[in-house]
Amino acid sequence: MNAQAKHKSASVKLFLAGVLVLLAAPLGRAQSASVAATPPMGWNSWNHFAEKVNDAVIRAQADAMVSSGMRDAGYVYINIDDTWEGKRDAQGFIHANSKFPDMKALADYVHSKGLKIGIYSSPGPETCAKFAGSYGHEEQDATTYAGWGIDYLKYDLCGLRDIMAGAGSPDAANKMMVDAYVKMRDALRKTGRPIVYSFCQYGDAAVWQWAAAAGGNLWRTTGDINDSYERMATIGFGQAGLGKFAGPGHWNDPDMLEVGNGGMTAEEYRTHMSLWAILAAPLLAGNDLSAMSRETLALLTNREVLAIDQDSAGKEGDRFSAEGPTEIWVRPLGDGSKAVGLFNRHSGPLDMQVDFRELGFKGAVKVRDVWAAKELGSMRGTYKVQVAGHGVILLRVSE
Ligand code: GLA
Repeated sequence: MNAQAKHKSASVKLFLAGVLVLLAAPLGRAQSASVAATPPMGWNSWNHFAEKVNDAVIRAQADAMVSSGMRDAGYVYINIDDTWEGKRDAQGFIHANSKFPDMKALADYVHSKGLKIGIYSSPGPETCAKFAGSYGHEEQDATTYAGWGIDYLKYDLCGLRDIMAGAGSPDAANKMMVDAYVKMRDALRKTGRPIVYSFCQYGDAAVWQWAAAAGGNLWRTTGDINDSYERMATIGFGQAGLGKFAGPGHWNDPDMLEVGNGGMTAEEYRTHMSLWAILAAPLLAGNDLSAMSRETLALLTNREVLAIDQDSAGKEGDRFSAEGPTEIWVRPLGDGSKAVGLFNRHSGPLDMQVDFRELGFKGAVKVRDVWAAKELGSMRGTYKVQVAGHGVILLRVSE
């Protein structure tokens, strides 16, 4: 570790000690223990629509969530991301811009479909897309959201960073950030409405160490994903070691899904889904649900993959081993079985093997190939298989 890195790590430690003192009060954990018992599943507007989201888009996505069968597979949140925000009125209450003529009516519509609705804001004066943030209006905004019937808030640091820059020291800046997240948590709690609270501050200041205590039901661990294998793999495989911070009600968030947006092959999207399931990651589809192919739908709704993601024990998996471009990741599941992902990060096919004894299984094991939906039978010792380039073999192994 060089001197600068040492200084940084000492400073993060000091900062964390401060945060723990700050949070030692009887604050409980997440905003509400009744939400996010398993990683939230739904859809978010940003990855596909970005600033083109509007009332009609949200209604069409809600319709498609139901008609496609995704709701019945467990996807319930329809989340409006950045660019919905309009002006504040004379009393300081926020209103939606002209793309969303009646937010309450929209929320009622989404609810009428048996779905829930989410919204987006920033602890700063401005969001990332330069719309109005909640700075100085936290309680008013929480009240407004609850009045509309909002069930989920993504709170994106963005604009607060400019203010943090004037805090005087990195520790003071970090404290300002934590205070801002706690402030909105308290505002949300005060409304009495259960609202999933999603932190988005790109994994800064080891957020996984303090986010749950600050009320987060999920927290982004990295910068933004995009629809490329490289970015998805960098984020997904970069999650090693974070599992111990996740559990029912509080999850690491490696960002939303890109499945169906067209930048990856089916094999690569299978890797995306498999890795996110092993990571107990929130599953927020980011494609246009009203125009998806059968293949995309099958990727998003594979029941066995979703069962791994949503396993009620809530234990996030981790990297078990890596050899060159191949990695084995394992997630322990509530019924004593294990999800085992054999990932090949190379562009061409590679032979891989896994020794079930090393994974803690003693005798013969029952092995199921999840994507192939095929029992591979009873095995002992080592399983060898060829894994496609950028691909995965996802197994469910039990004694
Ligand atoms: C940030 C977030 C994204 C998205 C955009 C919206 O980049 O990380 O997920 O919400 O802002 O402006």
